[in-house]
Amino acid sequence: MNDPRLAELFEFLRFPSISTQSDHAVDLIACAEWLKAKFHALGFDAAVHETGGHPAVVASTPRDPAKKTVLIYGHYDVQPPEPLEEWETPPFEPVIRDGRIFARGSTDNKGQILAHILGLGEKLSRREPLPVNVIFLIEGEEEIGSPHLEAFLEKHRDTLACDVIVISDTGMAAHGCPTLTYALRGIAAMEFVVKGPSHDLHSGVFGGAVMNPATAAARLIASLHHDDGRVAIEGFYDTVRPLADWEREAAAALPITEEDLKSLTGVSALFGEPGYTSIERVGARPTAEVNGVGGGYQGEGTKTVLPREAFVKLTFRLVPDQEADTVLDLAEAHLRRHCPPGVSLEIHRGHSGAPYFADPNSPFGLAAQRALERVFGRQPALMREGGSIPIVTTFKKVLGVDSLLLALASPDCRAHSPNENFPVENFLAGLRLSVAAVEEIAAAS
Ligand code: BES
Ligand code: MN
Repeated sequence: MNDPRLAELFEFLRFPSISTQSDHAVDLIACAEWLKAKFHALGFDAAVHETGGHPAVVASTPRDPAKKTVLIYGHYDVQPPEPLEEWETPPFEPVIRDGRIFARGSTDNKGQILAHILGLGEKLSRREPLPVNVIFLIEGEEEIGSPHLEAFLEKHRDTLACDVIVISDTGMAAHGCPTLTYALRGIAAMEFVVKGPSHDLHSGVFGGAVMNPATAAARLIASLHHDDGRVAIEGFYDTVRPLADWEREAAAALPITEEDLKSLTGVSALFGEPGYTSIERVGARPTAEVNGVGGGYQGEGTKTVLPREAFVKLTFRLVPDQEADTVLDLAEAHLRRHCPPGVSLEIHRGHSGAPYFADPNSPFGLAAQRALERVFGRQPALMREGGSIPIVTTFKKVLGVDSLLLALASPDCRAHSPNENFPVENFLAGLRLSVAAVEEIAAAS
């Protein structure tokens, strides 16, 4: 902890920049201002920009037209820390234990983004020329689906113009295993409310004579999957791009076993769509997941009530070439078809984001692989990521460029969960990776 760069990371991690909770809006502003000051101190031009939501920070080196331009993207917002009682130490009081930095946001995404800032910033502050023009774009709304960033990109299209984007916000195949993520799943969120009687009913007086909304919700949930784990929504798989042979080989070569997945998740058996390995199920196959269910009495003891309504929160993870709106249309039609009589369905659509896929052996992809190899001393694994970073596909649409996803999170990073952590070793690797990446990108043809 004598490393001043770790002290800087700790400062960054102390901001409770929780984007989904409006009472933390001031903390997001303070965090963005802290980043701007950090950029200035290192010699970058930097500004905090209004977006209509939480601010975005943009920093850059002067644009030399003879050089390529690399945009490094990350996010300074974090997920809510709850449940608080499950943290060994408080989420916004970073500590190092067993070589890992524990704090909300340590691995998602503050550790990586600060490593890139300091890695390149150290060179800049020593007045060593960078081999490319660098733009940092660090947003505050990634964890809520980046609702304002597309408009921001459109508005700042010229200042953000670049040749390629670098992002470290994905997971490594195994501890110490350099990993180039070449695909991300997309996401489509939906919530439905099953409404029945006009008010909560006595379950003895009326039970048996009316459809219970909680039972109807459970039936609808059950209708989403076949028993073997395949999604049962008609047409759901129609536009799914099959895995190429090289991808199945790359997935089989990853240093991740079924036993690893069991111990990472704490389950006694793995389960999923037949015909695919667990790695393939997570990276390359779409899913329907229940994220929350509610309705009826939740308090202590028994209450003989027949609830007037129940709700279900769902997200679908999407793969190329599925489209979020189409999947939500199919899901809505499915739910309406399966809704039992005597209750009605209210369906609300949430945020969505497209899946992403980029050839890892493109000239820039190969440059990314060389940079990872230089830093970690071995050839990188090529992996599809099950998580989503919806803005990556928007970058492609608006700025016309691919993103190189240089993984730095460890498999047991506990992103979105209590005791989120980032190995110090990965932070130090990130400091070197940003430099290696811009050098290899500059040399790529
Ligand atoms: N960094 C994650 C995506 C991720 C998580 C990559 C774990 C690798 C391992 C990102 O911040 C994230 O959580 N995205 C959300 C997007 C959603 C809120 C639109 C996700 O995947 O749930
Ligand atoms: Mn996240």
